[in-house]
Amino acid sequence: MSILPNIFKQESEIPPEYRLERPISVTHYLCDGKLVEFHGETTKVTSPICEQVDGKWVPTFIGTTPNMTDEQVVSCLDAAVRAYSNGAGAWPTMPIEGRIRHVEAFVEELIKRRSLLINLLMWEICKNVTDATKEFDRTIDYIRDTINALKDLDRGSSRFEIKDDIVAQIRRAPLGVVLCMGPFNYPFNETMTTLLPAIIMGNTCVFKPPKHGTIMFKPIIECFAKAFPAGVVNSIFGPGGAVITPIITTGKIDVLAFIGSSGVADKIRVQHPHPHRLRCVLGLDAKNPAIICKDADLDLAARECVLGALSFNGERCTAIKIIFVHEAVANEFVEKVCKEVAKLKVGLPWDKKEDGTYCNITPLPERGKVGWMQQMTEDAVSKGAKVVNEHGGDYNETCYSPAVVFPVTKEMKLFHEEQFGPIVPISVFNDLDVPIEFIRESKFGQQVAIFGRDADEIAHLVDPLVNQVCRVNINCQCQRGPDTFPFTGRKDSAEGTLSVSDALRCFSIRTLVAAKKTPMNTAILQEIVHDRKSAFLSTDFIF
Ligand code: G3H
Repeated sequence: MSILPNIFKQESEIPPEYRLERPISVTHYLCDGKLVEFHGETTKVTSPICEQVDGKWVPTFIGTTPNMTDEQVVSCLDAAVRAYSNGAGAWPTMPIEGRIRHVEAFVEELIKRRSLLINLLMWEICKNVTDATKEFDRTIDYIRDTINALKDLDRGSSRFEIKDDIVAQIRRAPLGVVLCMGPFNYPFNETMTTLLPAIIMGNTCVFKPPKHGTIMFKPIIECFAKAFPAGVVNSIFGPGGAVITPIITTGKIDVLAFIGSSGVADKIRVQHPHPHRLRCVLGLDAKNPAIICKDADLDLAARECVLGALSFNGERCTAIKIIFVHEAVANEFVEKVCKEVAKLKVGLPWDKKEDGTYCNITPLPERGKVGWMQQMTEDAVSKGAKVVNEHGGDYNETCYSPAVVFPVTKEMKLFHEEQFGPIVPISVFNDLDVPIEFIRESKFGQQVAIFGRDADEIAHLVDPLVNQVCRVNINCQCQRGPDTFPFTGRKDSAEGTLSVSDALRCFSIRTLVAAKKTPMNTAILQEIVHDRKSAFLSTDFIF
């Protein structure tokens, strides 16, 4: 395969607003409200963007992150346990309005660091300017929507209910100490969209940033330190295998919020000494298929499938990871897909295309990812498929030019395995039972995209598929948003449902205070409410 022309540049060619003052190292961790200076072993962090050293292009050194010791990570856990104090701590008993004020202060601090965080998303995981900006802004919107959703939830609970002569107030209460771990492809968004709902509900937390997108947590822990009381949020840094075991084995973690692979999730949860006590909120693997019926609008299908398969290099859990096309339109569809892929350009996150938009395909953050892409493609080619697009599979250091692989069959790795990268596998069917069987047999159950015009045929697909996956998209790509919609999956794809309002439910449990409606009890309840003696027993309405 030919080599991609060099897309890497000398420092002087990088637009000044995107240059990064380096090194930028994580020198502290957040424990019990303090930024504690770290002394000890560190991990070197490099960017997938290469720089020239001694005439060779090598990943740019950005800085270092701490490899915290067992003692240090346990001190973070203990701080979270103390702040929760079995539900009696100042944070879990704080009125909701108080917790909201802290979250608002946090948002203000984040916004002050907006351009640095967007720049770090570009350097650490290579999201282009548009996607990095979107990740930041979407997250801020999500946090603000979370505040509004909590106000709504609280308004509905700000009253007593009477049934069968029992008077009760029912609210959602926190669960305890949460361990939050986000993924490298949405390091900011998917850490914040579990962590913030968790703490706003009164839980306390320990979080570990993902393996790529770690340096960006240096400014983020400063924001946490400024905005939250001691112990509510604590950060741990280091290789997952080393820093998670000392805390999960204590049994002091009540909730695991993890977005990543099912293999890692399993390894973590089995280490908990009382697994039945560990509530899990998980976003895991997926191999979302697209099904192209023979009457589909092929231009639309090709556009949406390429967007779905290759946005952020295909490194989205919701990406379309295999396409099934009806044999009657297979060749025409494949040609259209190749034309769409040819419109994409490989470049650095800030490089622009002729039309003024930013390059779509950028260097891949995971080490060895290009080699893995090559192996998947070679496996398919050795079993009868071809890379059918011009420049498909060309590579250069950390960059891999998207490969459209056709026809993909059951014997190939690309048929079953999640590639999580810039490969578009296309398979042919002559009976709709073929893609239905693929979904039935698959380990995954997140989403599917159906392209067609015939309402009968689409209905015939929808009914079995809604019970196999958790979102059926008609004539559009798979995706998580809008964030108010439920986001979840079946089988190896997820546990628990996330959305702005569902996340608040995931991190809480319904609890009630109930009493027989006797004159004595009524007087007690009235006095508590009237004199505002309790945060739980209260009819205060948040405006
Ligand atoms: O990686 C998984 C993300 O949750 C996908 O979100 O569909 O908005 O890119 P997205």
